[in-house]
Amino acid sequence: MPALMPQLKIAVLGSGKGSNFRAILSAIMAGHLRVTPVLAASDVPEAGILTLADNLGIPTTTIHEPKYRTRLSDGVEFSLVKELQASGADLIVLAGYMRLVKEPLLEAFPRRIINIHPSLLPSFPGLEAWRQALSAGVKTTGCTVHFVDSGMDTGEVIAQSQVNILPGDTPETLHARIQEAEHQLYPEVLARFARREFP
Ligand code: GRF
Repeated sequence: MPALMPQLKIAVLGSGKGSNFRAILSAIMAGHLRVTPVLAASDVPEAGILTLADNLGIPTTTIHEPKYRTRLSDGVEFSLVKELQASGADLIVLAGYMRLVKEPLLEAFPRRIINIHPSLLPSFPGLEAWRQALSAGVKTTGCTVHFVDSGMDTGEVIAQSQVNILPGDTPETLHARIQEAEHQLYPEVLARFARREFP
C-alpha cells in the first residue's frame, strides 16, 4: 500500500559543486520524487551541497579529516556513521564525494550506499572519467549509478545512461552533457529506491 509507506529518508555526501543534489531537490520540489533529505554531509566546508541544504533548512554536517586525503580515518568515519544513524537516513547518496568509503560506513549501511559516476562502468573508473573516455577514442560514454563497496567505482551497477561523444567534443562539452544525463538518472534511481525496488 504505497500511500501508507513512510517516505524514504536520504543523507547526501558530496565534496563538489552540488549539481546532482540540486537536481534531486528539484525533482522533490516538482513532486516527481518522494524522498526526504535528512542530512547533507561534506568534507569540504564550502561544498555546494551544504549551501543548498542550509537554504532549505536541511541539517548539515562538516567532516573534519586532518590525516588522509582519499579516505577518512576510522574514528572520523565512525563519528560520521553515528551522525548518519541519528539522522534516520535509510539510504546514503554519494554525489561527488571524493573519498573512498571504508568498513565503518559500509557495515552500518549494507547495500544502502549508492554513488553516481561519469562513465559507463566498468569503463573509466576514477578521476575525470570524461577525459579518459575522450582519450580512449570511444564513441559512447555516459554515467552510472552503482552500489558502493570498498573499491573505487567497483560496486554493482544499478542503472546507466548513455551519452554519445560528438565530433569536436572537448572535455568541457562532454562533461556538461554527462552531467545533464546524471541529473536525469539520479532522481530516477532514487524514485526506484523510494518505491522499495531494492529490499
Ligand atoms: C559528478 O559528475 C559525479 O559523477 C561525480 O562527481 C560529480 C559531482 O558533481 N562522482 P556535483 O557536485 O553533483 O555537481
